Amino acid sequence: MMQRPRGTRDLLPPESRLWQAVETVARETFGAFGSEEIRTPVFEPTELFVRSVGETTDIVHKEMYTFPDRKGRSLTLRPEGTAGVARAWLENRLGERTQPLRLYYIGPMFRYERMQRGRYRQFSQIGLEIVGADTPLADAELLAAMHEFFVRLGFADLVIHLNNLGDPEDRPRYQDAIRAALAPRREALCADCQRRLDENPLRVLDCKVPSCQVIAADVPAMDDVAGDASRQHVARVEAQLERLGIPFVRNRRLVRGLDYYLRTVFEVVSPQLGTNAVLCGGGRYDRLIADLGGPAVPGVGFAIGEDRLVEVLPAAFAAAALARPTVYLVPIGAAAQERALELARAWVRDGVAVEVEITGRSLKAALKRADRDGVRIVAMLGDDELAGGTVTVRDLALASQTALPLAALPGFWRALPPAPAKP
Ligand code: HAM
Repeated sequence: MMQRPRGTRDLLPPESRLWQAVETVARETFGAFGSEEIRTPVFEPTELFVRSVGETTDIVHKEMYTFPDRKGRSLTLRPEGTAGVARAWLENRLGERTQPLRLYYIGPMFRYERMQRGRYRQFSQIGLEIVGADTPLADAELLAAMHEFFVRLGFADLVIHLNNLGDPEDRPRYQDAIRAALAPRREALCADCQRRLDENPLRVLDCKVPSCQVIAADVPAMDDVAGDASRQHVARVEAQLERLGIPFVRNRRLVRGLDYYLRTVFEVVSPQLGTNAVLCGGGRYDRLIADLGGPAVPGVGFAIGEDRLVEVLPAAFAAAALARPTVYLVPIGAAAQERALELARAWVRDGVAVEVEITGRSLKAALKRADRDGVRIVAMLGDDELAGGTVTVRDLALASQTALPLAALPGFWRALPPAPAKP
């Protein structure tokens, strides 16, 4: 039997309803904050990710799906969305439009990761980027949109970790500080970290090996080395968050796994997720577009891991998304079967979700099926109903039954009270 590749998933109903519901909230929330959708290709030139995400990151170093196409060009399945947005901004000359641009995206990303709960090789991100604004207000607005999204889903226990990564000018000083702090314990670091110490010491702070994390806990924080400009920037972001009542904690160890960040960086952690607790990550990337050969255009953004989000979705939101009452129309007898599709179409045009019993199940078998699949409303259409222009409607949740004129069903369906909670 053929099997899907490791680290990929089939998204089946009814779970797909949760994804749709989450995506609807994302579109509505981010749209309400003035953003519009962007869709960029799922594969890009490999060079784009090497130059943006950074050569010494784990993503580029060992997690990319890279392949030559038939003409020998090196392509990569996108491991994240920001690089593609920056490339699209340049290529489509979006700088000629009024700045800033607020762009959101929803789609699959690919990383060759070691298998673990909450870590997939194809996963979906919901991202938002604000390109063309360098103010602390831009960071705060972005975080406000993100927070509003989580609030609308009903999350109450998420924690925003925030840090200042300083400006690129501060970086060499910080790298020296890390090297100096870690040099005496070099041998205790993992082989990767010994290499990182030479190539890009900041990456040591991002190592997933527990013993390295213990060692890295002692190095100085970036914020101690950073210049005034970045410290003031992040302080203003924090002041806005306080004003908005958005809770956060300052995490002086937070560095993020991608190279393009400066100043504000943040992650959202769910206490329910265990080791892969990070639901969302982001930050400011004012040099990214310039590094790709464009003008100095600032940006700030985040991406939410949709797979992880759905795993910890608040129960009330999930229940509402799953409870989609469909009318199950069961025609009994040949004459009713002839009429069923016509009737269903009329109800559908009136806004009802209708599922017709098209396999010819008997009423008894149909009721059994309704019970098994959690169907709530069964509409029975037999000879008597046909003669009287009515339909017999059974509400399995309320254990009630009524006869309705055919045209009254849509009104009945819209007025349906919520099902009582199951014991
Ligand atoms: P990231 O932290 O690499 O940032 O990924 C963002 C989120 O995607 C993570 O917090 C996590 O929830 C989810 N994620 C990452 N890898 C996996 C995986 N293998 N399986 C499941 N979920 C995963 C970025 O990608 C940046 N582009 C975010 C950003 C946007 N920064 C600025 N703008």
